Amino acid sequence: MCLTIPAKIISLNKNKAAVLNGGIVKEVNVFLTPGLKIGDWILYVSDFALRKISGKDAKEIIELLEDSRKKINISNLSVKFKNIIAASSVRQLGRAEIVYLLNTKGQEKEALFSEANIARKSYLSDFICIHGIIEFSNFCGQDCLYCGLRNQNRKIKRYRMPVREIVQKAKEAVEKKGYKILVLQSGEDYFYTDEMLAEIIGAIKKSCRVFIFMSVGERSRDCYKKMKQAGASGVLFRFETANQKLFKKLHPRGKNFKNRFESLKFMKELGYFIATGSLIGLPGQTTKDLADDILTAQKWANMVSMGPFIPAKNTPLEKRSQTSNSKKTELNLKMIATLRLLRKDIRIPVVTALETLAGASGRKRALQSGANALMLNLTPNKYRQLYKIYDNKFYQKENIWENYGLFKRQGSYAMLEERMKKELTRN
Ligand code: 5AD
Repeated sequence: MCLTIPAKIISLNKNKAAVLNGGIVKEVNVFLTPGLKIGDWILYVSDFALRKISGKDAKEIIELLEDSRKKINISNLSVKFKNIIAASSVRQLGRAEIVYLLNTKGQEKEALFSEANIARKSYLSDFICIHGIIEFSNFCGQDCLYCGLRNQNRKIKRYRMPVREIVQKAKEAVEKKGYKILVLQSGEDYFYTDEMLAEIIGAIKKSCRVFIFMSVGERSRDCYKKMKQAGASGVLFRFETANQKLFKKLHPRGKNFKNRFESLKFMKELGYFIATGSLIGLPGQTTKDLADDILTAQKWANMVSMGPFIPAKNTPLEKRSQTSNSKKTELNLKMIATLRLLRKDIRIPVVTALETLAGASGRKRALQSGANALMLNLTPNKYRQLYKIYDNKFYQKENIWENYGLFKRQGSYAMLEERMKKELTRN
């Protein structure tokens, strides 16, 4: 489900223990985890110790989540910056203020990251939500100029996972690994009828306890209703950009700006947990556009999925990479941090595109700049390389996350359910 920061037991008294977590002493219940001793390391959620872990693994997790960067002395920074940061805890920031934050450099940029990290820690503690994604078909009827799966790209090998295989892989992820939130993603592929999608969801829900998020693009309200009735909880559906003109340029056929928001509206009405967001660094996109993306995303989303545009082979935008990877990474981190300051409660995943751009340190840096969720890839190996939204997708060993972030014990689903309810009603 979720990785939490380890704590060390410093005293024990029957079912209660005092633990030290990042220098702060807390009291937790330990009756779920008998046999603990003073000096042991544990993972805990909502005041309950969930499991003991080794000192070595505890160290590794702490390194992932703890901020080792030098603390910036904010008092040396500009009055404007300080005012914006102060304002962010009492009111919604305006567009000009967001633009200012997105343009920060040097010390102010670092301070933005660390303020966002503090906001994440104090509002959400070290609760990193883990989602598993299964990319079940790379067929797509759309022709988005930026996307490697676009219909007109005849150069990629297409695949579709059969219904049984999708259900099987989802069940394995839940039963063997302990995933509790799965995203089922595909191109816009009408091979899968509304009924088939509902059948997939129904079959998974019947056999295991898991939240299912659908990411299948523009389909009718009726389709989304059927999927909801079959047991889907969320949607992952980006608006891509809040700039209508830019949207039109990038989608000369098919996708339509108004439809995007009409879809989001009916998804919300149907009671879905909404994950939406935009692409960062599109050709022709300005910082003002990005500020609008943040304002739009936070209005619609329970979870904001935004990530860098990475030029994909065999697309009209193949050669359109104006900026260096490191600049793009920094801009992405600033987007995450700014959004975190605007919305302390919202779920922000580190997306694979950012990890592709930033390499192995990308995840850690994003988590330390305000992100609080991960999207781990569960697509079977034989299909993975074919799901080429963009090239050279990043994968890394997920051991630590899968071992410690996914609690298999009874009750952890119910705990997440509570959390999801809260997140849904906040918006
Ligand atoms: N780079 C990064 N992300 C992309 N997407 C599509 N093409 C690219 C690309 N070249 C994103 C879109 C889409 C999601 C499934 O993948 O935002 O909504």
